[in-house]
Amino acid sequence: MSKDVFEEELGRPSIFKDESKLSIDYVPPSLPHREKELRTLVRTFKILLEKPGSKSCKILISGSVGTGKTALAKLFGKLISNEAQQRGVNLHYIHINCRRDKTEFLVLKRIVHYFNPSFPTRGFSPEELLFALQKTLDNHEAFLLITLDELDFYIKKSGPELLYDLTRLYEEKLNATQRISLIGIAKDISWMSLIDSSTLSTLQQNVLYLARYTASQLRDILEMRVKEAFYEGCVSEDAINLIADIAAEWGDARYSLELLWRAGKYAEAEGEFRVLPEHVRQANAEIHPVIRKEILLDLPQHHRLLLLALARKLKKNEKAYVTMGEIEDLYHIVCEEYGEKPRGHTQIWNYIHDLESCGIINIKPSGPGLRGKTTLISLPDVPATLLEKELMSLL
Ligand SMILES: Nc1ncnc2c1ncn2[C@@H]1O[C@H](COP(=O)(O)OP(=O)(O)OP(=O)(O)O)[C@@H](O)[C@H]1O
Ligand SMILES: [Mg+2]
Repeated sequence: MSKDVFEEELGRPSIFKDESKLSIDYVPPSLPHREKELRTLVRTFKILLEKPGSKSCKILISGSVGTGKTALAKLFGKLISNEAQQRGVNLHYIHINCRRDKTEFLVLKRIVHYFNPSFPTRGFSPEELLFALQKTLDNHEAFLLITLDELDFYIKKSGPELLYDLTRLYEEKLNATQRISLIGIAKDISWMSLIDSSTLSTLQQNVLYLARYTASQLRDILEMRVKEAFYEGCVSEDAINLIADIAAEWGDARYSLELLWRAGKYAEAEGEFRVLPEHVRQANAEIHPVIRKEILLDLPQHHRLLLLALARKLKKNEKAYVTMGEIEDLYHIVCEEYGEKPRGHTQIWNYIHDLESCGIINIKPSGPGLRGKTTLISLPDVPATLLEKELMSLL
């Protein structure tokens, strides 16, 4: 019996072609809507390829959660090391997460181990590690581009000395070959100017700011990942649009990819061959548990009836949005079911706005494609089935 279950599950066809393409560590071969920023990095660091050793370059990448800071630095690191190899330049890219390696000793240990994994670091002081690093770089005639990711976190905890130490190795010597260049990554840089550190201030003179993604940019990012991670046709257009709209509130690509993955998991668990908006709503509710009971309890009767109409329409619908007209029609039916006299159009319109300001629904004007102008209504945070159940228990 268990063996049958086991084999049945193993043999079940998946909608995922390659789930790993949605994992956090995966760096895609290109980053839509970050071309300009990639260009800036190339311009900043191309001297490392053309005249290695002549200059040390530094830049600070900032921007809020999920704006692609880490992905951009890693992709650039890959591209520049490949190019260096082709040109016979001994340039290496090292990406350090300073939240993981949170002391100067740990950061330096990681760099030293990059060149010599068996180097015995125990009992060494940071100064001794620095010295070892310098010797290694000189002996190998190597150049380093180091990214210090989550640098704000590190500096708040351990101060800016690491930056000073890494640069003073070469910068203080007259005419020395410059072997170390830096990329700093920080979400918040506003407080950094308060810190007295010359290296930090040179970093801050060169800031690359990554703006939050808009819904349409997120859509492009999602579409690219859908192609890599799912079999063709397994994710509905409306599911993608809904994810993009939800994540656009924060402009966060990571959140959008997580929703995509979870929605895929829900679809798969239900034996569906397509990811639909309802799976997205389920995924979103799981991450943000917002079946907002208190809010529903406070809602007047006709707001509840209207919401029930919306939940029922969306539950059956393959679409993520319904029009104002559709919802009104269904509201009349629901009113009849509960023996209530339906309110007029203007009232309903006010209710819709009330529901939006509670954050239960989203509304947006219809774009091109629909005849005439209307309002589109969606349910971003809550699975329609769950909402219907809750409402029916209250009505
Ligand atoms: N332009 C893009 N194209 C494709 N994927 C992207 C893009 N921007 C970000 N991503 C993906 O979104 C996820 C989050 O990006 P990333 O980790 O780079 O964000 P971050 O800015 O470093 O966030 P945090 O500040 O939380 O560390 C990653 O999986 C990344 O591959
Ligand atoms: Mg990051």
